[in-house]
Amino acid sequence: MDGNGRWAQSRGLPRLAGHRAGTENLRVIIEACVEFGVKYLTIYAFSTENWERPPTEVRGLMRILEDMIDRQLDELNTKGVQIRHIGRLERIRPSLQKKILRAVELTRHNTRLVLNVAFNYGGRDEIVHAIQRIIQDGVKPEEVTPELVSRYLYTAGIPDPDLIIRTSGELRVSNFLIWQGAYAEWYITPTYWPDFDKEEFRKALEEYKRRDRRFGRIHTPT
Ligand code: IPE
Ligand code: MG
Repeated sequence: MDGNGRWAQSRGLPRLAGHRAGTENLRVIIEACVEFGVKYLTIYAFSTENWERPPTEVRGLMRILEDMIDRQLDELNTKGVQIRHIGRLERIRPSLQKKILRAVELTRHNTRLVLNVAFNYGGRDEIVHAIQRIIQDGVKPEEVTPELVSRYLYTAGIPDPDLIIRTSGELRVSNFLIWQGAYAEWYITPTYWPDFDKEEFRKALEEYKRRDRRFGRIHTPT
């Protein structure tokens, strides 16, 4: 969900106004996922590196997630959205931690759409966390396989992403799903996240449909 800051700046608004607009847009995209039959949506809301932003922006981003849970949890639950959190709870203020856990608990049996909220998430951090737990569990070296590693990630039980969309035109991974995204198709658009609407989303899915996914293999002639 990149480009909130530039979206705001281009309108002469404070960056936080961009984050708020981005949150509103998230509703639109969640709605579109339900309509288009997308089963898993992972949103990159706050990275382990975002702590380095000015304290006012960090506080603002925390407050936005808290407000979003306060105002949208019931609606999301009614829609059948299962909320999951990927990332570390540590360092997040206790009141927000509680709300995140409550949202996850309340929606855990919903099946229409799994919404993974990557918040205080970093791909490297996730892999380090997995390695620590693999060692703690006394797993033998020969038992370590890609499947086992996947089971130790925050995304355990969730399929790898088919499509990763990055808004605002940046051409980098930025520590997002670096294990799970090994064979994801990428779609990059110059549109800032708050303007990435249902039609833009439809375009991304249409383009995805045209991609030829080979997973490192070649097509065998029939
Ligand atoms: C949103 O956009 C990403 C978050 C960390 C929430 P940015 O805040 O990165 O916006 P730009 O890149 O400055 O435009
Ligand atoms: Mg950015």
